[in-house]
Amino acid sequence: MKKLEERILRDGQVLGENILKVDSFLTHQVDFSLMKEVGQIFAEAVKDAGVTKVVTIEASGIAPAVYVSEALNVPMIFAKKAKNITMTEGILTAEVYSFTKQVTSTVSIAGKFLTSDDKVLIIDDFLANGQAAKGLITIIEQAGAQVEAVGIVIEKSFQNGRQVLETAGYRVLSLARIAGFEKGQVVFTEADI
Ligand code: G4P
Repeated sequence: MKKLEERILRDGQVLGENILKVDSFLTHQVDFSLMKEVGQIFAEAVKDAGVTKVVTIEASGIAPAVYVSEALNVPMIFAKKAKNITMTEGILTAEVYSFTKQVTSTVSIAGKFLTSDDKVLIIDDFLANGQAAKGLITIIEQAGAQVEAVGIVIEKSFQNGRQVLETAGYRVLSLARIAGFEKGQVVFTEADI
């Protein structure tokens, strides 16, 4: 997605060796018009897949995911990271290890929102090591639902998330793919859509 790459070059900040800060349009402040286009592009890419639900993980996946769900006209569900007192029964959970933060957390979705008839598009803001997406896949498959594809806004292709997901047989669709950082500048490789 050319417009997204241009925005990353304009407003993204490279932090250290492998972190890209995009808090002015994606992970903190949200540019709704860019997210709306993100939603439309993902929706177009999966239009023949019969997607019935969009699933993401809080917090920063929610903004793009809600626009994808609008464009597909299907519900969006976000996995929760903290136990919620109103989630009392039929909870599906998975353990997610973050290499970035070096912590394991339990993520959960209420089982009533996913059925074995569902075809799911996973959406997330970043793909690094693929552990968040793997956790979501575990939950979705516990419900007997099918994962149609994993849609990523910004993939860090120098980390192994894509490889982990593709090796396990899942389709990855990334709007921007970062090959690496050279002298504090983002270098892209060809995106999927
Ligand atoms: P993984 O899911 O692909 O394995 O990634 P990892 O555990 O390494 O990432 C942990 C968190 O850091 C995730 O957010 C992920 O989106 C975010 N992240 C990873 N790389 C980058 C990056 O280069 N820039 C930014 N801005 N974020 C990155 P989280 O903590 O689970 O959730 P939240 O921040 O959405 O609340």
